Amino acid sequence: MQPSRTKVLLFETGAIMKQRKKSNLSIFVIVFSLFLFGIFMYNDNLKLKSIAYLTSSNLFSINPFEDVGDAELPPEDCDLFTGKWVLDYKTHPLYKEEECEFLTEQVTCLRNGRKDSLFQSWRWQPNDCSLPKFKARVLLEKLRNKRLMFVGDSLNRNQWESMVCLVQSVVPPGRKSLNKTGSLTIFQIQDYNATVEFYWAPFLVESNSDDPTMHSIVDRVIMPESIEKHGVNWIGVDFLVFNSYIWWMNTLSIKVLRGSFDEGDTEYDEIKRPIAYERMLRTLGDWVDHNIDPLSTTVFFMSMSPLHIKSLDWNNPKGIKCALETTPILNTSMTFNAGTNYIQFSEVGTDYRLFPLVENVTQSLKVPIRFINITGLSEYRKDAHTSVYTIKQGKLLTKEQQSDPETYADCIHWCLPGLPDTWNEFLYTYIISKSKSS
Ligand SMILES: *[C@@H]1O[C@H](CO)[C@@H](O)[C@H](O)[C@H]1NC(C)=O
Ligand SMILES: *[C@@H]1O[C@H](CO)[C@@H](O)[C@H](O)[C@H]1NC(C)=O
Ligand SMILES: *[C@@H]1O[C@H](CO)[C@@H](O)[C@H](O)[C@H]1NC(C)=O
Ligand SMILES: *[C@@H]1O[C@H](CO)[C@@H](O)[C@H](O)[C@H]1NC(C)=O
Ligand SMILES: *[C@@H]1O[C@H](CO)[C@@H](O)[C@H](O)[C@H]1NC(C)=O
Repeated sequence: MQPSRTKVLLFETGAIMKQRKKSNLSIFVIVFSLFLFGIFMYNDNLKLKSIAYLTSSNLFSINPFEDVGDAELPPEDCDLFTGKWVLDYKTHPLYKEEECEFLTEQVTCLRNGRKDSLFQSWRWQPNDCSLPKFKARVLLEKLRNKRLMFVGDSLNRNQWESMVCLVQSVVPPGRKSLNKTGSLTIFQIQDYNATVEFYWAPFLVESNSDDPTMHSIVDRVIMPESIEKHGVNWIGVDFLVFNSYIWWMNTLSIKVLRGSFDEGDTEYDEIKRPIAYERMLRTLGDWVDHNIDPLSTTVFFMSMSPLHIKSLDWNNPKGIKCALETTPILNTSMTFNAGTNYIQFSEVGTDYRLFPLVENVTQSLKVPIRFINITGLSEYRKDAHTSVYTIKQGKLLTKEQQSDPETYADCIHWCLPGLPDTWNEFLYTYIISKSKSS
């Protein structure tokens, strides 16, 4: 960019300022962001910082380019997942519910009637370091000309929605779009040629629950050695984020097809959950080893997202599932479910038998998969579920249903803004760290 051009642009902004003097400051902020965006688009390697300094010192008290600066990264060996929740109104939530038009009715708890909003303001504080401040522009820079794809079930979709909201705030209207085609939903950010995508595959391997809309199937049947059908859609993606847990929890044993859905086979064997789960993981691992170039693609696996169905798990005899909870568990010496409580979906805690399987498989691959351990820190967040402020079969719960949490509370999914934003803060940390060193 030429200095003269900068002046012209600044002058234009000044003119706009005068015209709008009396109108809402927010209009100005939007216009100014558009203008900055304009500058930014012309500037690839130029002296952003000096221009920023110029504009901020002359015109504004904030540095508008703050978001393109370096972020402070935690040391590589810091355990990000051991720590505590701290109330931090200043930095959290990272966005406002009403500011993200892409949130679905399933997760907009406040709009759906939830009265307390404390759950939005907790920040995860690792014991030995801190997570870097989330900066949408820094992430978008790393995602320029790249694809980030979440693959899995509705909890991964929950996290994908969070990620869309986290980045969309810095993208002007009309420069972003959402397109759902079959199993794939693509959020596109035009000016960065970047996408944040979600691919529905609740078992990761092939199953009879793969239809992206019609998947309420009582007898869930899987083909644990078959993944190609989904996998072809993941090739060439730069950042892959897998998860798969909740769909395994409906029954103690998993129905494994004899033969193939394509051949019309319907007979199945019933196999113990951890065994079937491990077969899926090995299939995924093989697929990753054969299809992923670790130089261009980073693969993540999100650990189990916990449920809060039984309030006795956190010593609240008066609780109704998660429905009355408004604060996290702050006593970090509390442990949950201790591995015994994995009997049935209706009362489960976390099935910790699956945990070492994921660790084991992800560590034995040629292509590294980064395991993101959200389970423990999410177990503290009994307050963060959608509960009765959500939808059922596509419809918002009625007042009557809302007053019957015993039947209707959803203690599986999470409100947004909320806990999945923290999961994405981990992804953010790893994505910006990786790109930095390459
Ligand atoms: C846009 O991004 C895609 C990957 O998402 C990449 O294949 C393509 O080359 C990019 N286009 C440009 C012009 O860089
Ligand atoms: C959505 O994507 C599909 C497949 O790529 C394409 O055919 C369709 O035109 C897109 N729709 C919109 C509204 O962009
Ligand atoms: C924290 O939890 C531990 C283990 O359940 C318990 O022994 C301890 O009394 C709790 N502390 C407080 C302050 O509640
Ligand atoms: C880990 O995987 C190896 C094979 O790669 C297997 O021999 C071992 O038993 C596994 N350990 C666990 C705890 O599953
Ligand atoms: C996951 O993190 C929790 C703390 O949040 C920790 O207690 C647990 O040991 C970790 N598990 C693994 C397998 O790293």
